[in-house]
Amino acid sequence: MKILLTGCSGQVGWELARALLPLGEVIAVNRSQADLSDPDGLRRTVQKLNPDVIVNPAAYTAVDKAESERDLAFLINAEAPRVLAEEAAKNASLLIHYSTDYVFDGTKHAPYTEDDAVHPVNVYGQSKLAGEQAIQATGADHLILRTSWVYAARGQNFLKTILRLAAEREELNIVADQIGSPTWARLIAETTAHVLRQSLLERQQGGFSSGIYNLTSAGETSWHGFAQAIVEIARQQGTQPLKNRIINPIPTTDYPVPAKRPLNSRLSTNRLEQRFGLKMPTWDNALRLCMADMV
Ligand SMILES: NC(=O)c1ccc[n+]([C@@H]2O[C@H](COP(=O)([O-])OP(=O)(O)OC[C@H]3O[C@@H](n4cnc5c(N)ncnc54)[C@H](OP(=O)(O)O)[C@@H]3O)[C@@H](O)[C@H]2O)c1
Repeated sequence: MKILLTGCSGQVGWELARALLPLGEVIAVNRSQADLSDPDGLRRTVQKLNPDVIVNPAAYTAVDKAESERDLAFLINAEAPRVLAEEAAKNASLLIHYSTDYVFDGTKHAPYTEDDAVHPVNVYGQSKLAGEQAIQATGADHLILRTSWVYAARGQNFLKTILRLAAEREELNIVADQIGSPTWARLIAETTAHVLRQSLLERQQGGFSSGIYNLTSAGETSWHGFAQAIVEIARQQGTQPLKNRIINPIPTTDYPVPAKRPLNSRLSTNRLEQRFGLKMPTWDNALRLCMADMV
């Protein structure tokens, strides 16, 4: 079993490079070995490696910068997944790809299901949606895993930013009217390993079906609630000096950024849990485990 893994330096890619190890020969490539902004080169790389499975966490993830780099965002998030899926279709291999809650506009007053109407409100979301649609159009066996609010002990993310700011500042202002479920990159990777193993069995036995699945932690909070939990856990751990005393809740309108964000990022994971026999842990439970790994 040869598994091609892209973006192995990213939050999810780093964890996948470990979580997928028991499933086969993992060929983990970074940007210099497989550049997703070079579709022809990417195609040649896939053809040369001839994998049984392609797992693609690599993406253009700079949500605000995407507003001014639309072409590059679409090249990496839509054209590259199309190439991966075309090659998967040719070789009868399986593609696992990641997408985002940002395919929705956030106006729903409940968690989004996979069947809800999409309507991205920023370029990043549009490019990720185009990637989903490009994969679906190829007819390749695929799973698209939509996740949200990803953090990890490594990389650039909200957890790392809050830990840094809490060490520097007494008072923080954090957006409180966007809600979602913070999701640990390791949880995404380990869930992917379960999903992949079952999918491979299903393909052997003839019962596999492609589709989109939401993959996040259970429960919900706001960025403000997430920040409070991070500082609270860090305080209990007592391993780093914390200046922070107050975390003020602010509305999105008080924190202007180039890309519009959905107010509701919650995704229902019922479909994933039912098909793959899983029960997603709550976001705060996973956060504790992640932060325990950082001390
Ligand atoms: N982060 C989130 O909050 C979030 C939320 C919802 C969905 N997602 C989705 O989840 C998946 C994993 O995200 P993540 O948080 O792990 O992202 P990440 O930490 O930003 O990592 C992105 C990875 O993509 C690679 N990459 C970027 N441009 C590339 C290119 N031209 N060629 C090859 N590789 C390239 C990066 O390589 P370099 O290290 O060289 O830059 C990095 O390894 C993505 O599909 C993302 O859209 C993320």
